[in-house]
Amino acid sequence: MFFQQDVLDEVLARSDIVDVISGYVNLKQSGSSYTGLCPFHREKTPSFSVSADKQLFKCFGCGEAGNVFGFIMKTENLAFPEAVRFLADRANYTLPEGKFEPNAAKNKAVREKLFAVNKLAARFFYDCLNSGEGKTASNYLDKRCVSQSARKRFGLGASPDKWDSLYKFLKSEGYGDDILNQSGLILYEKGPHDKFRNRLMFPIFSAFGEITGFGGRILDGGSPKYLNSPETPVFEKSKNLYGINYARKSKAREVILVEGYMDVIALNQAGFANTVASLGTAFNKEHAKLLKRYAPKAVLVFDSDTAGVTAALRAIPELEYSGISCKVLTLSGAKDPDEFILTYGKEAFQTAIDKALGSVAFRINAVKNKYNLSKTEERVSFTSEVTKLLAELPSAIEKSAYAKEVSKISGIPEEAIITEVNSAQNVEQNVRLPVRLKTEAEKDQAEAGAREARRSLLRLAASNKGIAYAIDEVLKPSHFVEATLGEMFTRITERHRSGASFTPAEVLNFFDTYEKQKEAADVFSPKNPETAQEVNGERSLLQLVRKVLESYYDHKSSEACSNNDLSELNAILENKRNLSKLNIKVTDC
Ligand code: CTP
Ligand code: MN
Repeated sequence: MFFQQDVLDEVLARSDIVDVISGYVNLKQSGSSYTGLCPFHREKTPSFSVSADKQLFKCFGCGEAGNVFGFIMKTENLAFPEAVRFLADRANYTLPEGKFEPNAAKNKAVREKLFAVNKLAARFFYDCLNSGEGKTASNYLDKRCVSQSARKRFGLGASPDKWDSLYKFLKSEGYGDDILNQSGLILYEKGPHDKFRNRLMFPIFSAFGEITGFGGRILDGGSPKYLNSPETPVFEKSKNLYGINYARKSKAREVILVEGYMDVIALNQAGFANTVASLGTAFNKEHAKLLKRYAPKAVLVFDSDTAGVTAALRAIPELEYSGISCKVLTLSGAKDPDEFILTYGKEAFQTAIDKALGSVAFRINAVKNKYNLSKTEERVSFTSEVTKLLAELPSAIEKSAYAKEVSKISGIPEEAIITEVNSAQNVEQNVRLPVRLKTEAEKDQAEAGAREARRSLLRLAASNKGIAYAIDEVLKPSHFVEATLGEMFTRITERHRSGASFTPAEVLNFFDTYEKQKEAADVFSPKNPETAQEVNGERSLLQLVRKVLESYYDHKSSEACSNNDLSELNAILENKRNLSKLNIKVTDC
């Protein structure tokens, strides 16, 4: 956590949610709450509600919810600490300096100087592109159909075909050799000279629009095709995504991932501002972390060649590991998105995006393409390779759904495939995937009921100390299954123990991402809230607790099943049987 709890509470206390949101939404009062048109989705009748008591907002149309920090994170597109700063500034509250890092001030000064140098250099390249000197580069952009406005939007430029013109310019602006050396724009062997000469220049922006480095494309067929800035205190190639500044602003839930600078530009030009490219490196965890801040979903668009497929297959686990769900679009009829959009237009690209395969289907497809399925032996090889893939899937539901799919492709009966999946799981004991599984709908329904019970318990715990302590006697945070709910429970009991009263909005500050805050806010904004009296009776409280534990044990037992851990499974089933003996006692306090 970035800030101390008391600092967060202070900022929250100084930022009345009704007051803050009124700056963005026209609110009308009705009782203790206020309603207006939701700023997060298009609507004609207001379903956006702000509660002055709870200091929370909730849209009953699109489901967005949170406290004032969440609102600012969402509307201003800021990370949690930035939203805290934003509101502290607004309230004229000076945040206390954190632990002082000895080099922090110096590093900050260097970083700022480098951003300034980069900005000047970008300006210099831009002016060059738009003067006689940049004629070759601007003709080249004409040829590639890059519009004037796209050139401006991306700050494209040209580096002169001269030894040291940028060097002279930056010197004349008062920058010394030390900082120029650090910028990577000037090289110092054989006398100071420009790194980028006679190239088309692409400034690379951070998510917040600072220029961190450059890419330079050669204008004839020479090599290397691209030169990029070296690593500097502000440029880390493996952490940057070209186009992230615009993708962030677009607020899209789904980002399009492409391979090249030119692809990002072409797609932006066609209206897809939610496009980013890694800078010639494979997608890695750092990229995924950066992306995750702005969008939970990604569509990978790779070149249709084998290298593209391999790159996609590598990128999928990196992204999914960080919780970004992926689809993959393999383009046909064009070598990359840039060429695709120029050839077929933006509607065709949107259609292709809509048809992109889910990551599992894509992986199955990649295996399929290795075999000639009209031959029996190859069909068998395909099936046995693909069952290994199915065995790795996290849920039985997915396994079963894709087993059906594979059966369709290969013509081999589903039961045989399930048997294969089971044996690929290296089963030592007799715990197997049943051939007939509960339907997805049945599972969803049971899970939804348990989830509602967990949320009811949290609401009750927040509103009543005695109930909170009673629940604490019988439940552990992990029993709440979702990490966010478990953390909320810990937080709520802690708050009661510290003796201070608190609002629901304060409980949310424990979380530093909007998504989690939303999940927490949702707990406090149920469609049909029960009253404490309704559930205060120990019997119904006990029923809620039982429901929560039952679902928890079900979760755990299927986990034990897939790990083939029979002794664990028996222990869990024993606990589940003991649920009937469970009791709960609420004392008034
Ligand atoms: N790249 C690089 N160095 C190279 C080649 C490529 O850094 N020598 C990076 C660039 O970021 C480039 C990306 O890899 O944008 C993808 O390469 P490529 O598809 O060749 O580039 P495009 O942007 O498509 O450029 P063009 O369409 O002009 O060929
Ligand atoms: Mn290209």
